[in-house]
Amino acid sequence: MTGPAKRAVAVLISGRGSNMDALITAAAQRDYPARIALVLSNKPDAAGIARAAGLGIATDVVDHKPYNGDRAAHEAAVDAVLRRHGIEIVCLAGYMRLLTPFLVRAWQGRMLNIHPSLLPAFPGLHTHERALEAGVKLHGCTVHLVSEGMDEGPIMAQAAVPVLADDTADALGARVLCQEHRIYPAALRALALGQQGAGPDENAALLNPAA
Ligand code: GRF
Repeated sequence: MTGPAKRAVAVLISGRGSNMDALITAAAQRDYPARIALVLSNKPDAAGIARAAGLGIATDVVDHKPYNGDRAAHEAAVDAVLRRHGIEIVCLAGYMRLLTPFLVRAWQGRMLNIHPSLLPAFPGLHTHERALEAGVKLHGCTVHLVSEGMDEGPIMAQAAVPVLADDTADALGARVLCQEHRIYPAALRALALGQQGAGPDENAALLNPAA
């Protein structure tokens, strides 16, 4: 007997794609409720695109440059690709474009983003540097549904890591990234199953840096 159909997911990236890798790995599990049906980038040279293609995953590039700042037209083209592939859920994973209300509304409740801070603290860029400057003792990452405000929207999962006395932004960022790779698949699983959040196990504060 076959199980329930897996939800078709598009992962949108702009570069490295390590969160994409984590989602692909999770989705390869037989009982995972989603499959990666498409990896899409706005940058032709995004490293993650080549890796996804090498794994036999459908890929597409909708370069924003030829649109000369016409965000609406670029998003319409992205949206058309998503629909052509029968996508049901969109995961932003280092997709470095500010979205307009058009794309946000089109995918309301079905679009996730991962952000490298414990939102609502430190929205925007350079979160690890800002966390160190602010002197916080805990930092982390958040997966949230995308809403019209930047790095806002209902939180699906969070993980906290300690900030250590001699931390650099790179060391702290690497500690956070390990947790990103853990909570993004958990949050996508929850959304694909129609749940509110990723559950307490995925949201534990990780006070042991070795964890
Ligand atoms: C991650 O830190 C993510 O939280 C942020 O952009 C970075 C993307 O990294 N939105 P990667 O491309 O997934 O490796």
